[in-house]
Amino acid sequence: MMFTSFTSRVVFIWATLLTACFLVASELSSIQLEKEALLNTSWWSSEINYSSDHCQWHGITCDSTGHIIEIFMHSYGVEGELSQFNFSCFPNLKSLSFSSSDLNGSIPSQIGALSKLKFLNLSNNHLTDVIPYEIGSLSNLMELDLSLNLLGGPIPSSVGCLTKLTTLSLSVNFFTGAIPSSIGNLTKLTTLDLSSNTLTRAIPSSIGNLIKLSALDLSSNNLIGSIPPIIGYLANSISSLDLSRNKFHGQIPSTIANLTSLEYLFLDSNQLSGPLPREIGNLKNLMILLLRGNNLIGPIPLTFGYLANLINLALNSNKLNGSIPDELTQLPQLQFVDLSDNKLSGHIPFGIKGSMRLTRLNLSYNHLNGRIPLKIGGEYLAQLDLSNNNLSGTIPDSLFPWEYLDLSYNNLEGPIPHQLQYLHQQLKGNKGLCAEAFGFTPCDTSSSEKKPKITSIRLIMIILPITTILTILIFGFFFLKRKDKKALLSTSTRASKIRDVFSIWNFDGRIAFEDLIEATEGFDIKYCIGTGGYGSVYKAQLPQGKVVALKKLHSLEIEESASLNSFQNEVRVLSELRHRNIIKLYGYCLHKKCMFLIYEYMERGSLFCVLRNDDEALELDWTKRVNIVKAVAHALSYLHHDCTSSIVHRDISSNNILLNSELQAFVGDFGVARILHLDSSNRTMLAGTYGYIAPELAYTMVVTEKCDVYSFGVVALEVLMGRHPEEILSLSSSSSSSTQNVMLIDVLDSRLSPPVNRIVKQEIVLVSTIAFACLRSKPKSRPTMKRVSQEFLKQKTSFAKSFGEISISELRNQEMYLFDEHDA
Ligand SMILES: *[C@@H]1O[C@H](CO)[C@@H](O)[C@H](O)[C@H]1NC(C)=O
Ligand SMILES: *[C@@H]1O[C@H](CO)[C@@H](O)[C@H](O)[C@H]1NC(C)=O
Ligand SMILES: *[C@@H]1O[C@H](CO)[C@@H](O)[C@H](O)[C@H]1NC(C)=O
Repeated sequence: MMFTSFTSRVVFIWATLLTACFLVASELSSIQLEKEALLNTSWWSSEINYSSDHCQWHGITCDSTGHIIEIFMHSYGVEGELSQFNFSCFPNLKSLSFSSSDLNGSIPSQIGALSKLKFLNLSNNHLTDVIPYEIGSLSNLMELDLSLNLLGGPIPSSVGCLTKLTTLSLSVNFFTGAIPSSIGNLTKLTTLDLSSNTLTRAIPSSIGNLIKLSALDLSSNNLIGSIPPIIGYLANSISSLDLSRNKFHGQIPSTIANLTSLEYLFLDSNQLSGPLPREIGNLKNLMILLLRGNNLIGPIPLTFGYLANLINLALNSNKLNGSIPDELTQLPQLQFVDLSDNKLSGHIPFGIKGSMRLTRLNLSYNHLNGRIPLKIGGEYLAQLDLSNNNLSGTIPDSLFPWEYLDLSYNNLEGPIPHQLQYLHQQLKGNKGLCAEAFGFTPCDTSSSEKKPKITSIRLIMIILPITTILTILIFGFFFLKRKDKKALLSTSTRASKIRDVFSIWNFDGRIAFEDLIEATEGFDIKYCIGTGGYGSVYKAQLPQGKVVALKKLHSLEIEESASLNSFQNEVRVLSELRHRNIIKLYGYCLHKKCMFLIYEYMERGSLFCVLRNDDEALELDWTKRVNIVKAVAHALSYLHHDCTSSIVHRDISSNNILLNSELQAFVGDFGVARILHLDSSNRTMLAGTYGYIAPELAYTMVVTEKCDVYSFGVVALEVLMGRHPEEILSLSSSSSSSTQNVMLIDVLDSRLSPPVNRIVKQEIVLVSTIAFACLRSKPKSRPTMKRVSQEFLKQKTSFAKSFGEISISELRNQEMYLFDEHDA
């Protein structure tokens, strides 16, 4: 037998260790010994009373005889070297987790002594060195997770002895060498994740034995060779296959079409060549297909039109040619399409029919021609990139994606629709475009209006003398009438000074400084609708009837002209943000005496106030609440990931989420913090609102996107609970048994009747699962806002448990089912 020498070695070590432990045990009971071993780690010292029963300590579960069978210390701040934990003293242990802690050092070989162990999770620590060969003696192990560490060397072939394994995750480490072929012995595996290492060589053919797999992830390694056709015989049940970011070459095997349960297929960023197999059309359950960044050639098969569940299709950066099949536009779920950087030709098919859920469409860098269809996608269209093609004709008036549009470098002509005239960069390289707005070639009207011009000259010849006479008369009249000539002069110089410091964009009218002062009667308290850390907010009704919100900043730290410039630059960045869940910034006024920002007005005020008013809180039913959380997630994802430079909000709280008349949510007040702290080395003295601040800020003082993610988690729970979730946040530091008993249904806002609709219940579970993931104490284990936003866009899966039986601790420990860092 291949592992005999290994087995005897393990038995020897095991026996030695046990003896060491049991020699002492002759004096102490083995139970007392377990307690001593826990105490020696000092990991429980913060909260325990040494005389208390250790079975009651955080994360410890004992069996009826008092032996420890489970240690669950996920995300509990355990730190130091893993070897402080004396593995040989816990012979009854079935489940051990120190995941998301601060453990370093190597995995001791004594770990092999835990012969009853079924679950071992040491993920997300700083463990170094190699996996000890003795791991192979954990013959009862069903789940092994060592991901997110600093482990290296080859994966020991002894993992092939763990024949009961169902889950093996070694991702995000520094493992080298080949995938051991003994992995083919693990025939019960359902999840195999070796991603983000530096594994080399080809995929061993024994992988074909893993007939129970439902997810295989070998992405981000240096694997070579071709994708073995045997992959098509893996398991009919496999739903996720990720071989992306390796060095695979050759063709995509058509056997892949046998994997009919596939939902995620990622083969992107390899060196795959040849055509797209038309058999891929058989994968009826496919939701995400990423093949970008290869050398694929030929046309997009018409059979792709059968992928009825497809949400995300990324074929960009290949050498595909031919035209875009009309069939693609009929896919009912399709949201994200990237076909950019290929050799596609012909017209754009995404016309008025179909594609109603299309959110992002990138067809740039191709050879597409013809006109832009009158309507592309539906109301969800957020981003449209058609740049660098040969498109001609005019820009349709209705074209208005709500986040991003790029039409540069085509042959477009004619007048630019009014709403797009602010897009200078994204319209350049089209010689025929024109607009009256500054910076564009004016539209040439001379040819068609030659005749009227002659008449207008005639008209001027008649009118001019008359108006001149009238003007002289009127001026004379005023000159006599008006005595306060000096005052008139001083007002006009004041006005021009104000113009220097006053700027307004994106606004379909003009706002004068005087109008604002008048509308608020010089910032009278009766117009004040709120006060916050940075200033007070006033409601101002302008003469045209438009209502705006003025945020008058208290602080006047910005006095030197250098700071004035950066203030203006910052505000300009903020004013260019365009997202349907972000409050529009219309402009600002910067003046020594008075500094304010002008925002879109939100009728219902802050989420904070609405949740605290019993009548208004009732109006916020469960669906509206879930939608509020989603809106905030999408807005933050946009700020963090879709802007030219990532923008951290720094102060997400229910105070800064505002609601319009339909109780839809908008994120406001971003950037005020940013504007006021211009040194902005991301270190800041004051950021955020108490109760929403990420714990690490207290000691790092470094603001990152993950701080926003934490604050978002607080707000999400607050929306579900109707109050600040401080009790839930503090539960995390108390013992596990008290958390286990708190049910989700018991913390939901009791002013609303509990949800009955199945979909609504699923959404509430999703929101709370995500919220708890966002509240993880370690910033790097929180999801990005992009992932959160994607989770909300995905189709919901039902939960095994009934709604009333879901506890807070289950939500907290449930890993979100996410598909890697691939952007969808
Ligand atoms: C420690 O725990 C014991 C037993 O649970 C209890 O009697 C004692 O009062 C506790 N001491 C402190 C200081 O909490
Ligand atoms: C492990 O971390 C502790 C602090 O948590 C540190 O004192 C110790 O030196 C580290 N050990 C190693 C081997 O890095
Ligand atoms: C569209 O694709 C091109 C080329 O692949 C890329 O440079 C560009 O950033 C993409 N546009 C958007 C809006 O993502």
